[in-house]
Amino acid sequence: MPQTVQGVIARAKGAPVEVVDVVVPDPGPGEAVVRVDTCGVCHTDLHYREGGINDDFPFLLGHEAAGTVEAVGPGVTDVVPGDHVVLNWRAVCGQCRACLRGRPWYCFATHNATQRMTLTDGTELTPALGIGAFVEKTLVAAGQCTKVHPDADPAAVGLLGCGVMAGFGATVNTGAVARGDSVAVIGCGGVGNAAVAGARVVGATTIIAVDVDDRKLEAAKNFGATHTVNSSTEDPVEAIRSLTGGHGADVVIEAVGRPETYEQAFYARDLAGTVVLVGVPTPDQKITLPLLDVFGRGGALKSSWYGDCLPSRDFPMLVDLYRQGRFDLGAFVTERIGIGDVEEAFDKMHQGDVLRSVVVMEGSG
Ligand SMILES: NC(=O)c1ccc[n+]([C@@H]2O[C@H](COP(=O)([O-])OP(=O)(O)OC[C@H]3O[C@@H](n4cnc5c(N)ncnc54)[C@H](O)[C@@H]3O)[C@@H](O)[C@H]2O)c1
Ligand SMILES: [Zn+2]
Ligand SMILES: [Zn+2]
Repeated sequence: MPQTVQGVIARAKGAPVEVVDVVVPDPGPGEAVVRVDTCGVCHTDLHYREGGINDDFPFLLGHEAAGTVEAVGPGVTDVVPGDHVVLNWRAVCGQCRACLRGRPWYCFATHNATQRMTLTDGTELTPALGIGAFVEKTLVAAGQCTKVHPDADPAAVGLLGCGVMAGFGATVNTGAVARGDSVAVIGCGGVGNAAVAGARVVGATTIIAVDVDDRKLEAAKNFGATHTVNSSTEDPVEAIRSLTGGHGADVVIEAVGRPETYEQAFYARDLAGTVVLVGVPTPDQKITLPLLDVFGRGGALKSSWYGDCLPSRDFPMLVDLYRQGRFDLGAFVTERIGIGDVEEAFDKMHQGDVLRSVVVMEGSG
């Protein structure tokens, strides 16, 4: 029997989000219904509400979630009811040209649920990033459920589902930062601070955090930054060069998604260094660089989609590091809120007051 539960939708461009009844179908072949315990509020949810992603309103928002599998459809073998899972938006297909070449972290045909969740009048909902998890129960493709150790705080581990994985992976997977490297991270929100944390875990020895907000820089010190630069008062390119013997950092992570910060990243890296763009730009943004500098500075200019992660490989590993006290995932959780507080959480995100607000569903553990 389909179930009716409470969920948070964005009905129209720019309109405040609403808590409404959502109808969740029984899982079909390859699908799972997950009881959501927690779901973080990510910048991308706000982009959806503002119509910045596409016009497929109404959206069922939320996508950084931890929960418990309630039921699985026919043919599902990798998860069973009762499993503790983090939801991912990279359920790899195994068939596309990226998967067939052994690079599933680029999978170009990731799986989502086939059936749609609806409003009670039958209107189909578009789930954010193919998940939709500001809802008591959600329907996903079974491959979107990554099993993790049950005794970890869901509010913390759920954040691996998007922003924290994107930042950590930008450093560790895309940037391939190694022991002894120098790293600079421009923009230290949830994503950038996870990039800082990743640099510490793999043994970077100089980790420079750059932001325009001192509160974010304070947080960065706790995640492992060895130096901080407030770029509203100091030229970040000069500062990063002077902290790296006049040369620039081996790897610079751009976690804002703006042309001016990308240009800073480009010039703040050493010769033959790497720039990783993990911040998401808007369609109108452009960048102009002297082609001679692109050639003459060498190295690599890369983009990082979801931290080039493979959820089945990376989520359990990061949960282990968290449980061992080597990666402070809990420090990304600034506040725990109710399902009715998402709109207010968007305001706090806008003001820079939080790394992450996390919705805790009533009745969850
Ligand atoms: N590539 C991916 O797969 C992926 C996944 C999730 C999020 N993202 C993107 O990553 C970016 C960051 O996300 P977030 O959740 O950390 O957002 P956030 O709003 O929490 O953090 C952004 C940070 O950038 C800082 N900032 C703003 N302007 C700056 C400037 N000119 N110089 C330096 N710092 C500046 C802000 O003070 C803030 O600390 C967004 O663009 C988001 O869409 C990408
Ligand atoms: Zn694939
Ligand atoms: Zn996100």
